[in-house]
Amino acid sequence: MRPILTVIGKGLHLPFRIITSQMEIIRTVAGLRSSVEALKNEGKTVGLVPTMGALHKGHLSLVERARAANDAVVVSVFVNPTQFNNKKDLETYPRTEEADARLLQEAGTDIMFAPEAEEVYPEPDTRVFDLGPVAEVMEGAMRPGHFNGVAQIVSRLFDMVRPTRAYFGEKDFQQIAVIRRMVELEGFNLEIVECPICRHDDGLAMSSRNVRLTPAQREIAPAIHRTLKSSVEKAETLTLAETRKYVVDELNSMPHMKVEYYEIVDPLTMQPIDSWEAPHNRPAVGCVTCYCGEVRLIDNIKYNK
Ligand code: PAF
Repeated sequence: MRPILTVIGKGLHLPFRIITSQMEIIRTVAGLRSSVEALKNEGKTVGLVPTMGALHKGHLSLVERARAANDAVVVSVFVNPTQFNNKKDLETYPRTEEADARLLQEAGTDIMFAPEAEEVYPEPDTRVFDLGPVAEVMEGAMRPGHFNGVAQIVSRLFDMVRPTRAYFGEKDFQQIAVIRRMVELEGFNLEIVECPICRHDDGLAMSSRNVRLTPAQREIAPAIHRTLKSSVEKAETLTLAETRKYVVDELNSMPHMKVEYYEIVDPLTMQPIDSWEAPHNRPAVGCVTCYCGEVRLIDNIKYNK
């Protein structure tokens, strides 16, 4: 009989074998490939949810979507070093593997893939993706190399799992465009599923980074979503430039808050636009990155004009 929960490969934080429920924790690429192949040999469709762990309800909503549409669900939990352009950010990124495993198990995940960096990158990944204009603005401009690192890890995961569908949250709105571009470049045959942002009751977008906010910062942080929402009302009468300025000035006037950028972009090209008419037949999207103390938070909103 299949052990109820199996850990394949060396486990740093979890004992080698825990019997609790039907989820495999796999730490090796070979183990992942062979378990996924077994699922596919049974004719099963596979949904992949790539994550960097420190899981919250937002991640679990992706798992739920994947569960509903696929026969099996693989969740990767890997803090990918190649996408961090800031060493301190990589070091301080929250890591909560045991809690993640529990949550994924409860959410009905079939495989949690939690490798060490050496397993994913036995050699340095020197690939440079031609991600084009979608990766050059906003996060691409502020975090050099970040999107290339995202393309490296996501392409590796897609290659290991060859999923039927892969799930990404719309909080990282630009990231989805970059991943679509990588999929086009690499010719992967899969569906990218975009899932809505999950928010706390006070409107703050769920993020693994929120745990680093002090109580005072946590209290002020929901102002990001509040301001974006009120900018949608203001946009009824304001020009795009005025709306943009409203968001930046409003957030910068609050304690702890410092806007890094606020751009209103065409959702297909990610290019900033200068009039509401610019993206034809699709709503413009406002994308903000705002420091709350030392914590870098991102969010976005659609302007249905
Ligand atoms: O969005 C994230 O958490 C990461 O960028 C991803 C897609 C898991 C790649 O490491």
